[in-house]
Amino acid sequence: LNIKGFRNEPLRDFATARDRDRMAQAVEKVRGQFGRRFDVVVANRALPTTETLKSLNPANSSEVVGEVGSASLTDTEAALVAASRAQKSWAKTPVEERTRCVLEVARRMRERRDELAAWMVWEVGKTWREADADVCEAIDFCDYYAREMMALDTPERLGRLPGELNELQYIPRGVTAVIAPWNFPLAILTGMTMAAAVTGNAVIMKPAEQSSVIAAQLMGICQESGFPEGVIGFLPGRGEVVGQALVEDARVHTVAFTGSMEVGLKIVAQAAKMAPGQAHVKHVVCEMGGKNAVIVDADADLDEAVSAVVQSAFGFQGQKCSACSRVIVHQSCYDAFKERLVEAVKSVMLGPPSLPGTKIGPVVDAEAKAKIESYIEIGRQEGRVLVQREVPSGQGYYVGPTVIEGITPDHRLAQEEIFGPVLAMMRAESFDEALEMANSTRFALTGGVFSRSPSHIAQARREFEVGNLYINRGITGALVYRNPFGGFKLSGAGTKAGGPDYLLHFMTPRVVVENT
Ligand code: NAD
Ligand code: ALA
Repeated sequence: LNIKGFRNEPLRDFATARDRDRMAQAVEKVRGQFGRRFDVVVANRALPTTETLKSLNPANSSEVVGEVGSASLTDTEAALVAASRAQKSWAKTPVEERTRCVLEVARRMRERRDELAAWMVWEVGKTWREADADVCEAIDFCDYYAREMMALDTPERLGRLPGELNELQYIPRGVTAVIAPWNFPLAILTGMTMAAAVTGNAVIMKPAEQSSVIAAQLMGICQESGFPEGVIGFLPGRGEVVGQALVEDARVHTVAFTGSMEVGLKIVAQAAKMAPGQAHVKHVVCEMGGKNAVIVDADADLDEAVSAVVQSAFGFQGQKCSACSRVIVHQSCYDAFKERLVEAVKSVMLGPPSLPGTKIGPVVDAEAKAKIESYIEIGRQEGRVLVQREVPSGQGYYVGPTVIEGITPDHRLAQEEIFGPVLAMMRAESFDEALEMANSTRFALTGGVFSRSPSHIAQARREFEVGNLYINRGITGALVYRNPFGGFKLSGAGTKAGGPDYLLHFMTPRVVVENT
């Protein structure tokens, strides 16, 4: 097993009847399982809870996709006891055995990939294509981190002095709390969990409230994949209750968090406080939001730019941390770009994500819909709405894709993460000004440039402040290994999921010197 053998999991091709039929069957099969209950899992045992979280179908909120136990503080304590007990022996478990479990998770996901995708279609409103990509990314994380861990397992000899053996090795940090968002409900939860587990840490998974049913599928797979008792715990529940309790607890060594800036900064502050009995500094892996821009230069290929901006801004309804929420267009092509963009947005297929042709579905829940709509109203005050699509009537949380022009860097639409299908259009007099506008937020996650000018591309490479810069392509869909993902400034603490240094966050370096 080595990194050279790593290949990204190929996506399904829904243009072929075979892939389309398999997915259609999975979508129907999962629909037939609506309403089931899933429990908190501690030390491989289900814990009954008095409260549950109801997960609704965002395309029709009268349908309950599933009910998940909502963990209490007593359950949190049980999970911490079990993880602390498992930690000692898991840390000593040979790497081959740890990677075997992680690779087994990948194998089982491959076997059930359409069904896992279908759960995402129903629970969070992903289209087939987006849901399939999410499963592929989850598989990639398992396969990639297993290979990375094998490579890290050989201690590196430092210096070659005769009579002195210097070795750098990495040891597990300790119990890890994984606190995940709902928007890549399988991929991100799997990535953080498998990174922590393969490096020898017992993990407590705290999934997002909105996507706990999908998370329960992952827990089920983990239980079948050979992890010893207590190595993986499942603690669905309220972030402010169980998430916070985990962050504050002395037994937790690492918090792996992906989510909003507001919660991420709170976690960083809480984790910095010493809890009674704590004898280590907690490490926080913190990946947060974005306000990502695509620059369209004077000489850009507009056909490519329009389709990439539409895909990046409205794919999964704009609910990606990587989504394009600002398009900054050079004045010389502004009108031509605007006209094509508006027509393209008007033609995107909008509807229930359970149907194969749908490109844009509902947003995740009522709260998200209300928040996004309030930003559209703010945008109406700050700029001019160019297009706002009509949405299907009924009980779905639909928000029509919206483009608002006349936005300048001082506007809220240019600064705040909306996390929905709302695109702010900004006009720049020059490429320099476009870059200045692009860099004018607190965030630095993804960014893109459409240009044919080598000097402008070189300038963007140097000056565009983002963790992931894309040139002449869309800005979403980072692939494990090929495009390690993560931002800086207030988008994150500089970690790269799916990249070569990610596992080091879950380990402590140690040097042994022997006089031989
Ligand atoms: P969120 O911050 O609301 O919630 C994330 C997780 O934190 C959830 O599990 C939640 O229950 C938990 N939580 C909430 N309050 C907590 C507290 N006080 N203590 C501990 N845990 C708490 O984010 P979300 O709505 O689930 O996800 C969307 C956000 O995530 C967006 O801002 C998006 O940009 C960001 N995101 C970032 C990345 C990245 O890689 N940088 C990837 C995906 C999503
Ligand atoms: N990794 C995800 C993307 O690149 C967030 O779109």
